[in-house]
Amino acid sequence: MELTRKGSISHRDALLNAEHSIARIKDFVSKDLQRLKYHFMAPAYWINDPNGLIYFKGEYHMFYQHYPYGPQWGAMHWGHAKSKDLVHWEHLPIALAPSEAYDLHERGGCFSGSAVDDGGILSILYTGTIIRDGQLIQTQCLATSEDAITFEKYAGNPVIPSPPEEGSADFRDPKVWKHDGIWYMVVGSSKDGKGKALLYNSQDLRHWEYIGVLAESDGTMGTMWECPDFFPLGERYVLMFSPMGMGDRKTIYLVGDMDYQTGKFNWDVMGDVDYGYEYYAPQSFLDDKGRRVIIAWLNAWDWMRWFKNFGPTSQNNWCGAMSAPRTVELDADGRLRFPPVEELKLLRREQYHYENVKVIPGTSLLPDYVGSDCLEIKAEFQLAGCVAEEFGFILRASEDRKQQTLLIYNTKSKELRFDRTNSDGWSEGIPSAKLDTFSDSEILNFHIFIDTCVIEVFTDNYRVAMTNNVYPDPSSIFVDLFAIGNSVNVNSIDIWKLCSSDGTLNG
Ligand code: FRU
Repeated sequence: MELTRKGSISHRDALLNAEHSIARIKDFVSKDLQRLKYHFMAPAYWINDPNGLIYFKGEYHMFYQHYPYGPQWGAMHWGHAKSKDLVHWEHLPIALAPSEAYDLHERGGCFSGSAVDDGGILSILYTGTIIRDGQLIQTQCLATSEDAITFEKYAGNPVIPSPPEEGSADFRDPKVWKHDGIWYMVVGSSKDGKGKALLYNSQDLRHWEYIGVLAESDGTMGTMWECPDFFPLGERYVLMFSPMGMGDRKTIYLVGDMDYQTGKFNWDVMGDVDYGYEYYAPQSFLDDKGRRVIIAWLNAWDWMRWFKNFGPTSQNNWCGAMSAPRTVELDADGRLRFPPVEELKLLRREQYHYENVKVIPGTSLLPDYVGSDCLEIKAEFQLAGCVAEEFGFILRASEDRKQQTLLIYNTKSKELRFDRTNSDGWSEGIPSAKLDTFSDSEILNFHIFIDTCVIEVFTDNYRVAMTNNVYPDPSSIFVDLFAIGNSVNVNSIDIWKLCSSDGTLNG
């Protein structure tokens, strides 16, 4: 039961209520067999966007949109966790709860935002959201912490009390960075059916000046840009956002040049951060190794379906998780690559290695004992001379193969499809991506991470990522390769059983 609904409440009491609610259910939730083994989840109930990702005083901090009173979206809090290696996370007390006139509302709260190190003070910029007289009111707010655990909302909030003329009431998800000693903020907005990224700057995080529209949709790139993120990469800049109203495309990136004089971002390359149906609101940060790392919510808004229910795990009092961390790299032709972070190797246990094998239509290649609900797979298919029509992977299959998820590459259309038709009876849709490279080699490489109810696929030299959820029976652990029409040669396959991030071996 949520105790913060009516009237006023102190921030401290709102946080205590939220902690109490989670404490009551978390042991029960932890017994659910569908809980992920190495992807980050809240201890219980609802999670959406990653927020405030930062490498701060030697540790990675992750905050996240959290509803601590049920397995569905509700008044937004900021959950909090930290890690030394991006793989093993320690839960910390909830950092922000709705408590003030500008963020206390059952359909509002402390919406997404970012964190910066302001001279040793961990400072959060987030969107306070309320609904007054049926009107959405979104403002940008500040909260700070001296110990990186307890956050105090700034008495002068909101620091940006209203959207500029070029924006609208949809005015959220501030991402802040420092350039030449000045703070900059990009905020997502929308006007006349066009998504936008609005640019501000500030000397002190408390007083903000509107600069203008950093970039906006040309009419085909979504009606509202959620969770914009803007960062330098090599000589260039990248704008990432999650567009509403852009069909199956959930996360877009633009690569271009930034002109701080005019506040304009001139982009010339556009791509998809991930082609799956369940990878949304990625946020980036720079770590001490100089890596640009992104983490995203392993789900995406699907209100039509959620109107019925929030998916299989919500019956077990949790919903949502975070993707494995990926790095963002600039490829030679100006596009982006997203290889998963090296630290994931910490999870590797038993390894199976095969070399120069042929996948023959209608026959099985891999022995049953390599199966597990937690696997990492790397494979290199030989495209030179390949006359198979299609080939790929059978994942999370039951022993009789009635339940299975297919990853299919079509050699003619050069299209990759993630087919969930027989995955679990709940998941639907077939996300796809065109693979247009391997220009300099005739090899198609795959890198796949499987964890209880998520599959993250990387291919085309990490230029294509495809992330989707599946909810098969716990016993559906089998994995295999297949070919249709003719055989395909595989240079190598490596399969690792992965342990859970608490060290337990699976499978
Ligand atoms: C993206 C988003 C953000 C918003 C948050 C609310 O998933 O819609 O725009 O701040 O979720 O939870």
